[in-house]
Amino acid sequence: MPENNLNIAIIGSGKWGMNHVKTASFLLGPTNVTVCDTFPGAKVKVDEVSKEIKFTHDLNEIINNNSIAGVIVATPAETHFEVTEKLLLGGKHVLVEKPITLISHEAAKLIEIAEVKSLTLMVGHVLLFHPAIIKLKQLIDEGKIGELQYIYSNRLNLGTIRSEENSLWSFAPHDISIIQYLCGNDPISVYAKGADLVQSGIEDTTLTYLAYPNNVHAHIFVSWLHPFKEQRLVVIGEKGMFVFEDSLKTEKLKFYKKGFLVVNGSVEKFESEYEVVSFENTQPLAEEHKHFYNCIINNTKPLTDGPHALEVLKILEKATESIKSIIKNY
Ligand SMILES: NC(=O)c1ccc[n+]([C@@H]2O[C@H](COP(=O)([O-])OP(=O)(O)OC[C@H]3O[C@@H](n4cnc5c(N)ncnc54)[C@H](O)[C@@H]3O)[C@@H](O)[C@H]2O)c1
Repeated sequence: MPENNLNIAIIGSGKWGMNHVKTASFLLGPTNVTVCDTFPGAKVKVDEVSKEIKFTHDLNEIINNNSIAGVIVATPAETHFEVTEKLLLGGKHVLVEKPITLISHEAAKLIEIAEVKSLTLMVGHVLLFHPAIIKLKQLIDEGKIGELQYIYSNRLNLGTIRSEENSLWSFAPHDISIIQYLCGNDPISVYAKGADLVQSGIEDTTLTYLAYPNNVHAHIFVSWLHPFKEQRLVVIGEKGMFVFEDSLKTEKLKFYKKGFLVVNGSVEKFESEYEVVSFENTQPLAEEHKHFYNCIINNTKPLTDGPHALEVLKILEKATESIKSIIKNY
């Protein structure tokens, strides 16, 4: 099926959902897009993108419309399971926003339904479609920095403060997804701590520590209580290091030939100036959409499939358990 014959629906046209509406309308054409949102005033914003986009308040209209092949779910996380389950049972291919669900056994159920019904279940871990992350993965796989040793991610800002979820659930799914992708492995241990400073019980700042097989380690520091925006990913290997700073305007991805070598039992430092690494100029959300459309058309497995998202969710659950446990070790 060519892309221009593909009809897509988007459920939820809120702050992030509208980005999906604009992207689908641009890539497929507005007449191939239908939006569903329960909020009475939602149509106004959709009309501003194009009056040719169809709109409904009723999810059943999407399910019963046989011309719609794929559906993007951009409703609040607590509704992901219910909405996605209905869509899959109704025979639709689904791209659901991250986190896939709030509970891992519900995510496992969605994966099972999609498998039984041979439907695409993709999850919106959009940073795996970022051209810099794609380049980073390619260079790591080619051996540019040798064996992986340590990865860390800072996602910090004086950002939108939420009351329905903490900074871990709001930001860290992106970082967990990237670290899982770069390591190509699941962690053997997860440990996390957090601080609830603005709202009681909702951590503004969390630090999650992950240990992987082969002595690979990682940490994720996320906060919406921070004086400036920083999105920094550092990847350290035995032969060199990468730094990806999406919050910079230029020189976002750098390679540092730095590290230590053990020569005849003694440790020697090596270091040189950094090199800027270029990457394609593509838009991650548009690439995510194209990937979803291709998976539907060609019946292929998505990169950010259900099992990938389930592992991200299990790590979030383990980190939450760790944050909520009170450890007195002094
Ligand atoms: N991938 C990313 O980078 C990224 C970024 C931001 C948000 N998100 C995710 O996108 C999702 C939406 O976030 P948001 O910030 O746009 O939320 P939002 O609250 O701004 O919008 C949600 C919309 O969904 C509608 N809605 C709620 N329940 C519905 C239902 N059952 N059927 C139809 N419409 C319904 C609401 O009326 C609202 O318009 C969340 O899961 C969030 O985690 C992802």
